[in-house]
Amino acid sequence: MTEDKSNDIFTFPKWTSVLRPGIAAAAVGGLVYAGTIVFLGFSPKATDVGYMPTQPVPYSHALHVGQLGMDCRYCHTGVEVAAAAAIPPTQTCMNCHSKVRANSEKLIPVRESYATGMPVPWIRVHDLPDYVYFDHSAHVRRGVGCVSCHGRIDTMETVFQAEPLSMGWCLECHRSPENHLRPAEFVTQLDWVPEEDQLALGTRLRETNNINPPTDCNTCHR
Ligand code: HEC
Ligand code: HEC
Ligand code: HEC
Ligand code: HEC
Ligand code: HEC
Repeated sequence: MTEDKSNDIFTFPKWTSVLRPGIAAAAVGGLVYAGTIVFLGFSPKATDVGYMPTQPVPYSHALHVGQLGMDCRYCHTGVEVAAAAAIPPTQTCMNCHSKVRANSEKLIPVRESYATGMPVPWIRVHDLPDYVYFDHSAHVRRGVGCVSCHGRIDTMETVFQAEPLSMGWCLECHRSPENHLRPAEFVTQLDWVPEEDQLALGTRLRETNNINPPTDCNTCHR
């Protein structure tokens, strides 16, 4: 068989033939990449729900918040004003524990930290990938309560991840925030329930305060 050269003018110039496999691979790769974005980015699949690392000190939110009635903001001072809620410095614990249970064995790492100036090596529970931008103040100040994203921390002896923190999970609320909005004074009161229907309250708060969470990519990926 002789080569049919006339075909070439309707397809690619000859010099591209060496590139063709590459072009094809790039096209296939692009499809796989797009598919991966859709699959990984939009799947609601649970990521690390239930993750509950053992902490260096058995600090209990159930005791300090649930029983003693401490407000989240006493320790997580950044939550209304900054991107990060922040883990409290040892000094915050010593405000009480220099006197309360001052000899407790459970508090040895806290006293050591206080003496050496090295922070208690708390293990992170919630941790988004670095390519995701998140801001606590943007949520808390607009009436999204801690409970919507962290569950009933006030009943936890040891903190665990209650929600998937997946992109699908973020977007579900960004599309319908009325299911979660509450008056700002109740954001840290985890057992608060509205007297009226949540949807009616949320819809009203959304309209009054003009709450419209963005869903474009660069809101969370900058
Ligand atoms: C007395 C100080 C104190 C108070 C009050 C407090 N916390 Fe904490 N919180 C801590 C400490 C210390 C840690 C780190 C150790 C741990 O994870 O248990 C922590 C961890 C957390 C974490 C997990 C952080 C991570 O690594 O992902 C969340 C979420 C959290 N707190 C939410 C709350 C909420 C919500 C409230 C109020 C209902 C609250 N905290 C009240 C001290 C406090
Ligand atoms: C406002 C005061 C206050 C602050 C601040 C505080 N605690 Fe406590 N903590 C208490 C009280 C009260 C108890 C219960 C004492 C008892 O059972 O008699 C307690 C108990 C504990 C216990 C149990 C001790 C034992 O021997 O059973 C641990 C552990 C503890 N706290 C860790 C912490 C850590 C870590 C911080 C800082 C992140 C902190 N606390 C901040 C008041 C405080
Ligand atoms: C809209 C969801 C959302 C709300 C509301 C929210 N958080 Fe978080 N929180 C997160 C996410 C997501 C992370 C992980 C952030 C990261 O990895 O960058 C986190 C992390 C934390 C941490 C770990 C330290 C840090 O700053 O990353 C603490 C402590 C915490 N949150 C406390 C709170 C408290 C207290 C409230 C309520 C006053 C609250 N959060 C409200 C989603 C939320
Ligand atoms: C329970 C509801 C809820 C969840 C879950 C949630 N958000 Fe939001 N988000 C909001 C609301 C409400 C606002 C405020 C919108 C406004 O002010 O109009 C907001 C605002 C933001 C903003 C600030 C946007 C701006 O430019 O003003 C960022 C960034 C953001 N969210 C990221 C995230 C990420 C990342 C996640 C998941 C890890 C997440 N959010 C999960 C409700 C939520
Ligand atoms: C409201 C916040 C938010 C918005 C808006 C958002 N993302 Fe994401 N995205 C996330 C979070 C959170 C993750 C991390 C999910 C995880 O850790 O499982 C993520 C992960 C991803 C990943 C990585 C998947 C992986 O596991 O490798 C891609 C790709 C992605 N997003 C693309 C997009 C695109 C494209 C858009 C715009 C159409 C977009 N995102 C809009 C929050 C957001």
